[in-house]
Amino acid sequence: MLTEVTGIRYVTPLREGGSVPGVVEADDLGTYVVKFTGAAQGRKALVAEIVAGELARRLGLRVPELVRFQFDPVIGLGEPDAEIQDLLKSSGGLNLGMDFLPGSLGFDPLVFEIEPAEAGRIVWFDALIGNVDRSWRNPNLLIWHKDLWLIDHGASLIWHHNWKTAEQASAKPFDAADHALSRFSPDPAAAAAELAPRVTEELLREVTALVPDEWLDGEPGFDGPDEVRRAYERVLLARAGSVHERIVLVAGQKPKQDAPDWLRTWVDGKAAK
Ligand SMILES: Nc1ncnc2c1ncn2[C@@H]1O[C@H](COP(=O)(O)OP(=O)(O)O)[C@@H](O)[C@H]1O
Ligand SMILES: [Mg+2]
Repeated sequence: MLTEVTGIRYVTPLREGGSVPGVVEADDLGTYVVKFTGAAQGRKALVAEIVAGELARRLGLRVPELVRFQFDPVIGLGEPDAEIQDLLKSSGGLNLGMDFLPGSLGFDPLVFEIEPAEAGRIVWFDALIGNVDRSWRNPNLLIWHKDLWLIDHGASLIWHHNWKTAEQASAKPFDAADHALSRFSPDPAAAAAELAPRVTEELLREVTALVPDEWLDGEPGFDGPDEVRRAYERVLLARAGSVHERIVLVAGQKPKQDAPDWLRTWVDGKAAK
């Protein structure tokens, strides 16, 4: 299970992206970026954060620690913005926390240099999880202590918004032309040779076991949380073997992403900022 902490002080909202996470201090003296269950993106965004983030970590990519975060809206009563107040009030109970990296900088592809092998691993990983939210406009990458850290996987695993078409969706091309790391000569086939064999059923089970039951409960068409976990594992296992063959790195050959409307608006909105 992920470590569980309890919030003791709401510090500030982070308005950069769409989901307005909060910086919150916890009872373990740590500071966390909290993604709230009451956000418009819903609990599936939090499921995606855990499945993608914990898989990345096990493949050797850097992801700040994730924790189960108990939040009592009472600690946010000092927040003056009425919309954020509503968000906090609708998020009492279990939320998702990510260790806050103090002093980190947003990654800028024109300023930082990334090794081709690392770029390849991240582009391949984003194709594996269908992450449409790591473009050069909105990289969702941080530089911290001179290393590259991955954040914000809430918009990945887009097929979990329509399980019926998940298997077909997983056979579609992955457009990486706008990827934040596409200019660093990524070689997805080399990354796949290294990482795909590590994406085993056992590893995926370990990852999906970390998702709280209450975020998987009640999924239409499934008989309980464990069945939903198996669905996440099946799609990722199927993709791992061949997704590198479908990565499009050259602009102009744009495959259509199979994202629901609300998600495309969300991603495009963030890109415009
Ligand atoms: N672990 C972290 N440490 C430091 N800053 C963070 C961390 N996670 C997110 N941020 C900052 O908060 C912003 C919003 O977080 P993000 O996870 O991208 O959520 P969203 O885009 O859904 O609002 C990021 O762009 C980044 O500037
Ligand atoms: Mg973001």
